[in-house]
Amino acid sequence: MQTATTLDMLRKSVAALRGDGSNIALVPTMGALHEGHLTLMRAARDHCDHVVASIFVNPTQFGEGEDLDAYPRQLAEDSAMLEGEGVSLLWAPAPEAMYPGGPKDFATSISVSGVSAGFCGADRPGHFDGVATVVCKLFNQVQPDMAFFGEKDWQQLAVIRTMARDLDLIAPHVERIIGVPTVREADGLAMSSRNRYLSDSDRTAATTLPRAMKEAIARIENGEEAAPSLAALQDALLGAGFSSVDYAAMADAMSLAPLTKLADAPARLLVAARIGGTRLIDNMGIG
Ligand code: PAF
Repeated sequence: MQTATTLDMLRKSVAALRGDGSNIALVPTMGALHEGHLTLMRAARDHCDHVVASIFVNPTQFGEGEDLDAYPRQLAEDSAMLEGEGVSLLWAPAPEAMYPGGPKDFATSISVSGVSAGFCGADRPGHFDGVATVVCKLFNQVQPDMAFFGEKDWQQLAVIRTMARDLDLIAPHVERIIGVPTVREADGLAMSSRNRYLSDSDRTAATTLPRAMKEAIARIENGEEAAPSLAALQDALLGAGFSSVDYAAMADAMSLAPLTKLADAPARLLVAARIGGTRLIDNMGIG
């Protein structure tokens, strides 16, 4: 596996990989890799001749007081994991390679209205502008044939698909942006780089999240309105030791418009809740 740290190195390495007409998958990450990320690499390898993985802890998607400085960075370990998965090229730019002059000097921002507005977009102002802008840069830098993202960040996936559709990125087949189902621990907790922040007791309590979500989904699928099932879900989380629930909502799976009752179109249950200072998000299909 090659590693590129400058745009020049990246362009040369990608051109060499493409030399014989091979196609390329991009898997963007912020590192601190776990089994969920490795599943993305495997899915990418199944579809394309070469996988390019990026590792960049993107400062512009972190808000004031969020965990940018504390975000785990372990490039050597991550690099070995990617090599083990048959990744051809690691794009690991230094912050100056991504934002020459620093993020504050960067004048362009991509804002995807509608799907960015609610849920994490409402709780973390500017977050999805930061995600959309860096993902657009990564698409332009690597020019992949396909790109792979985890469904764990369902709203992020919707934002990226909308941006790609509107700006003709991955020219212009939005179906080449592949969502890969969430990988879960044996007890149901969705894998996340942030799970490592949880204390042992919070880690145990965190299993209430997927359990209570499944209970809410069963009630809604049995014909109950969303509101009482979501209220019970919220009570279960607070009762288990979560300090707050940022949102617990049912929404149209594509547009993310909130729903009060299950209709014909696919729906999604989306939750963000805090435990011991860590914000956990999860989502599951309904109906
Ligand atoms: O999901 C992530 O890890 C990040 O939001 C992404 C897509 C790599 C952009 O920084």
